[in-house]
Amino acid sequence: MPMEKRYLQEKKMKITVINGTEKKGVTFRLKEIFLDQFSDEAEITEFFLPRDCPNCCSGCTVCFLKDEHLCKDAEYVQRIEKAMLEADLLVFTSPAYVFHATGAMKTMLDHFGYRWMPHRPAKEMFGKRAVIITQCLGAGGKSAAKDIKDSLSWWGISKIIVCSFKLMSEIHWDKIPEKKKAAMTKKLVKAAEQMRSVDYSRPAHTGLMTRMRFHAVRMLQKNLGKQDPEYTDYKYWKDNGWTDSSRPWKHDQTE
Ligand SMILES: Cc1cc2nc3c(=O)[nH]c(=O)nc-3n(C[C@H](O)[C@H](O)[C@H](O)COP(=O)(O)O)c2cc1C
Repeated sequence: MPMEKRYLQEKKMKITVINGTEKKGVTFRLKEIFLDQFSDEAEITEFFLPRDCPNCCSGCTVCFLKDEHLCKDAEYVQRIEKAMLEADLLVFTSPAYVFHATGAMKTMLDHFGYRWMPHRPAKEMFGKRAVIITQCLGAGGKSAAKDIKDSLSWWGISKIIVCSFKLMSEIHWDKIPEKKKAAMTKKLVKAAEQMRSVDYSRPAHTGLMTRMRFHAVRMLQKNLGKQDPEYTDYKYWKDNGWTDSSRPWKHDQTE
């Protein structure tokens, strides 16, 4: 029996979905097609924005400088973070709004600025896989996906699949031509098959770009630590052993 099948049987795979819109429209349908491929094999937790993270970052910087739990929106942010850290697979969805991800998605991502690599990335993120699903009428789906991918890759995720669609003629699901729906379904099923064949008992491979970013930030943190050994981000890096020889992708081993 393949390893990935054993994992699915012994430990139910966990998927956390962050929906960039509450609307049950095209984005929602495309996401459902993707998730349908996991049928009963996965435990799925979904968040809908803005409902589940409704407030903008106020720019107080308390998360960066002191502690993320002091954020005025910590109850929303930490609920999402917990679900993301527990998940084997992360799914992010957004329609393109004026060439970018929805404001609701951006609002949520802003709250995770403290998890960017130059600050305090979660070590679990380095082993995760993610899928981004975006769609638009004509143009902007790719830049909407990039808005999300920028955060994910700076959180430390290397394995990211992007499924981006141009509807071209119609933005109401019932009016989209069947041929177009079939083409989008084919691409989503392929992405789901790729993600189903993964051995989730092993973390994803950490790519070269992620490692290069990590090493650049490590130099930065070491310099910051010389200036102020009490600096929050530096202390986090030091406590994780990353200013020494530990690496988040080595999972408690040294490089
Ligand atoms: C405020 C707003 C801005 C949009 N901006 C774009 C855009 O820049 N490019 C584009 O091709 N489609 C744009 N669209 C269309 C959406 O990307 C999407 O195709 C449509 O809203 C249907 O998706 P939904 O049913 O998931 O909401 C926009 C829609 C809205 C409501």
